Amino acid sequence: MSLSTQQISLVQDSFKNVEPISEQAAEIFYATLFEYDPALKPLFKGDMKEQGRMLMATLKIAVNSLTNVDSLVPVLQKLGVKHVTYGVKVDDYTPVGMALLHTLKTGLGDKYTPELETAWVETYQLVADVMRTAAYPDFNPETYQNIKSYPALHGEAPPAKSA
Ligand code: HEM
Repeated sequence: MSLSTQQISLVQDSFKNVEPISEQAAEIFYATLFEYDPALKPLFKGDMKEQGRMLMATLKIAVNSLTNVDSLVPVLQKLGVKHVTYGVKVDDYTPVGMALLHTLKTGLGDKYTPELETAWVETYQLVADVMRTAAYPDFNPETYQNIKSYPALHGEAPPAKSA
């Protein structure tokens, strides 16, 4: 999968709107993630504020590097392998992706268009696939399917699985 130049611009511009509210965005993200999958809570042992800052900083690097994916790949490969030591399993990328999309939707309001959603789904899939391919020897992005189901939030339609 590859992102078009227009999709890259959409994602980069939308992230600029998230940056000023990154602290709230991080809070929404983790609250949503633990609603989707409470079993992930014990994996996070550090300070959640600091964790939120790191998540946003890494997303920023990823988003800014979309025009130069080659430079991003080795960083993501290392990050994926490191996540195995945190106890992260291959299926856990799904609720993380859903929580990310929910956060963007909540934070961006009207600016969250269907085109933007597609561009973010593809961005997250790209990042998650590089991380998972490096981390799990049996992972094949062509055939992988997460068969787990995740709850719908507060009367929302069941979330699209983004990875
Ligand atoms: C786009 C994908 C992701 C990005 C960019 C990302 C980014 C990060 C970063 C930057 C750190 C800080 C430490 C480090 O550099 O290793 C981290 C730690 C961590 N991440 Fe991720 N992550 C991603 C996906 C996930 C997923 C799918 C999970 C599954 C639940 C997860 C769970 C964790 C945990 C448990 C830690 C350690 C927290 C602690 O020690 O308290 N991450 N992540």
